[in-house]
Amino acid sequence: MARLLLSPVLLPFFLAAASVVSNAGVAEAWHWHVWRHIFRGRYGHHDHISSIVSEDDYASLFLHKDDAACPAKGFYNYSAFVSAAERFPEFGSTSRNFDTRRREVAAFLAQISHETTGGWATAPDGPFAWGLCFKEELTPPSNYCDANNTQWPCVPGKSYHGRGPMQLSWNYNYGPAGEALDFDGLGNPEVVASDPAVAFKAALWFWMTPQPPKPSCHDVMVGRYRPTTADKAANRRTGFGLTTNIINGGLECNRTGNAQADDRVGYYRRYGDILGVRNLGPNLDCANQLPFS
Ligand SMILES: *[C@@H]1O[C@H](CO)[C@@H](O)[C@H](O)[C@H]1NC(C)=O
Ligand SMILES: *[C@@H]1O[C@H](CO)[C@@H](O)[C@H](O)[C@H]1NC(C)=O
Ligand SMILES: *[C@@H]1O[C@H](CO)[C@@H](O)[C@H](O)[C@H]1NC(C)=O
Repeated sequence: MARLLLSPVLLPFFLAAASVVSNAGVAEAWHWHVWRHIFRGRYGHHDHISSIVSEDDYASLFLHKDDAACPAKGFYNYSAFVSAAERFPEFGSTSRNFDTRRREVAAFLAQISHETTGGWATAPDGPFAWGLCFKEELTPPSNYCDANNTQWPCVPGKSYHGRGPMQLSWNYNYGPAGEALDFDGLGNPEVVASDPAVAFKAALWFWMTPQPPKPSCHDVMVGRYRPTTADKAANRRTGFGLTTNIINGGLECNRTGNAQADDRVGYYRRYGDILGVRNLGPNLDCANQLPFS
């Protein structure tokens, strides 16, 4: 529920209205509806995530996530998403601008959908209705252990392959994600694909946390990104494409017609429509940006 400021002028109106309808047992819902309508776009920057993505929206976005064909069937439930978002209250709430808040959430959901997509060009309901179909890499090419990283040493026998909505990978991501979220990222990386709330939190941790020289995806989507001299020289301009660069720029940016980068944009457009984003913002792709490394 939103934590909004009460205007002294409107307070009596709300109290009266709420007490009248509470007799019908729907005070909370009614109150909330009117509240949103009046305050939308003004004090709404404290809106709860459910005011941007309702449970119905969630079902429309991820039409096929629980199909029998999807390995993640039954895993990524709405309440796990909501509880993870509550752990990061700045997510979808940093900007005073309602469109910017929705745009950030659409961008995050688009990126995790590409990372976990089960879609293909002629898939039922189109290629962008198949996000959250996978929860972990099925045949990892390696255990994603950077043994040179002494700050986050790999635990023998553990694999740090892609898991969860963002396909968190590498010991140097599992370690700090676990530390930030109170799970044993290095010793128990499996939890990212076995507890949906941890899975979403790990994805949001990646989204919210700058890993220099990269800014956070969050800062990019809320307009807080300030390019360095190196960023300017590499044409790393703000926009959805820069979040693609942060996530997988080495393989997808500085080239035209990259199918993965285009798939991310396709999800972003569809989700922008569903969440009512008016303007998707500039630089949807990263074809003309150099990657960070
Ligand atoms: C670790 O360091 C060695 C020596 O500098 C290098 O050859 C190797 O490629 C590095 N491994 C990784 C995963 O970066
Ligand atoms: C959703 O996931 C949570 C774990 O975060 C679990 O406790 C809950 O039972 C699940 N809900 C549904 C409806 O499956
Ligand atoms: C990729 O980077 C190289 C080196 O900076 C540049 O010459 C080339 O034009 C870039 N390609 C694209 C598609 O931006």
